[in-house]
Amino acid sequence: MSKEVIKVRGGKMLTGEVDISGAKNSAVALIPASLMASEGEVLLEGLPEISDVTTLMSLLNDLNISTDLDGTNLRIGAEEAENMPLPNTKVQSLRASYYMMGAMLARFRKCVIGLPGGCPLGPRPIDQHIKGFEALGAKVTNEYGAMYLEAEKLTGAKIFFDVVSVGATINLMMAASCAEGRTILENVAKEPEIVDVASLLNNMGADIKGAGTDTIKINGVEKLHGTRHSIIPDRIEAGTYMIAGAIAGRNYRVNNIIPLHMESLTSKLEEAGVKIETGDDYMVITRPEKYKPISLKTQVYPGFATDLQQPITPMLFLAEGVSKITETIYPARFRHVDELRRMGAQIDKNSGTALIYPSMLQGAEVYASDLRAGACLLLAGLSADGITTIHNVGHIDRGYTDIVSKLQSLGADIWREKL
Ligand code: EPU
Repeated sequence: MSKEVIKVRGGKMLTGEVDISGAKNSAVALIPASLMASEGEVLLEGLPEISDVTTLMSLLNDLNISTDLDGTNLRIGAEEAENMPLPNTKVQSLRASYYMMGAMLARFRKCVIGLPGGCPLGPRPIDQHIKGFEALGAKVTNEYGAMYLEAEKLTGAKIFFDVVSVGATINLMMAASCAEGRTILENVAKEPEIVDVASLLNNMGADIKGAGTDTIKINGVEKLHGTRHSIIPDRIEAGTYMIAGAIAGRNYRVNNIIPLHMESLTSKLEEAGVKIETGDDYMVITRPEKYKPISLKTQVYPGFATDLQQPITPMLFLAEGVSKITETIYPARFRHVDELRRMGAQIDKNSGTALIYPSMLQGAEVYASDLRAGACLLLAGLSADGITTIHNVGHIDRGYTDIVSKLQSLGADIWREKL
């Protein structure tokens, strides 16, 4: 973990423009998917500059795959890829290393990999991924903390997921792309990142239809080839900056947004009284004089994103009344609450729900337990009186491109310090 802290002195108005980077949760699937190209190079354009990207590049390098990162563009050459077991330490530093399973099964029919890590959000099983791989004919075992996946051949199948899962949907889309015959995935997730990965795979020669709906149909192909792909904007980063604008924005514009992806957040911010002007690919946000309390429940896309539940919390302390958050995806995703309490926040937390009372926050020393908790503490610092010091910023750097510079350019009093 990084030996740096981020410090914020609260109370500044934010003005100006910020550009949203490529989507983390797309990038972390597009990079593993690229290893499926046995001919030609894949060029991924507009990647976020985050440590999850460099960790995945390093995992590809372990398989003798070349990676050449030029700014935000990444060239991946997987023609000479070799199947090797993937080491535990790197695999455990991010959740999305589980996408190596689907991609490697498709390419090599075999994968040995440590169990995935990622943010501590309570139990995060991968039973639906495994159920899907087994339905395609793979043998999956878990021995001494590593997953062994092997298939003589992959055969298309009909798979109904018991739980709507982003990761399982993408993993099975990848594996089924190179299976023999037709696969039908039912009760799948519909997140924009899934559509983005399907579009990359189709441009690589796959035959996937229905991504973005409840059912995805895949006709397996023998092999995939290189292509060029431009990533979608990060709707969670966009949401984080929209909330920053809702807390402290005046003449404040967020660029490179797909407004359709933001609807569940936009409607909640408007309900709270925030003024939002929506353009083709940007939003102008103005903080209100008075905030109304709101009630929100996290749901799978297009519902309110669990990843924005923590970042929106600081805005709710400003409301004139009690707000309620119900977390249905990860009921234990409330590790930010104790840290906010150090800042003077009044929150009642009960399994899966939090009641948020009007509170005047004060700067304090706080610890990011996970990526979005880190974003939450940073946003809390923007409205707090005095200086907030955020520790464990490695979590934030896993998922936000240059967050300190971006907020500085908007006028925030924020900086990094070495410990
Ligand atoms: N689940 C199962 N079994 C499975 C898979 C999931 O029970 O086999 C459950 C999970 O425990 C959870 C729910 O299903 O309760 C949804 O999990 P999902 O698989 O959709 O989540 P994920 O793929 O592990 C991705 C994002 C998360 C985001 C969730 C929900 C990536 C790398 N991660 O995780 O992003 O919170 O979808 O939208 O795409 C973040 O960006 O901070 C982050 C944690």
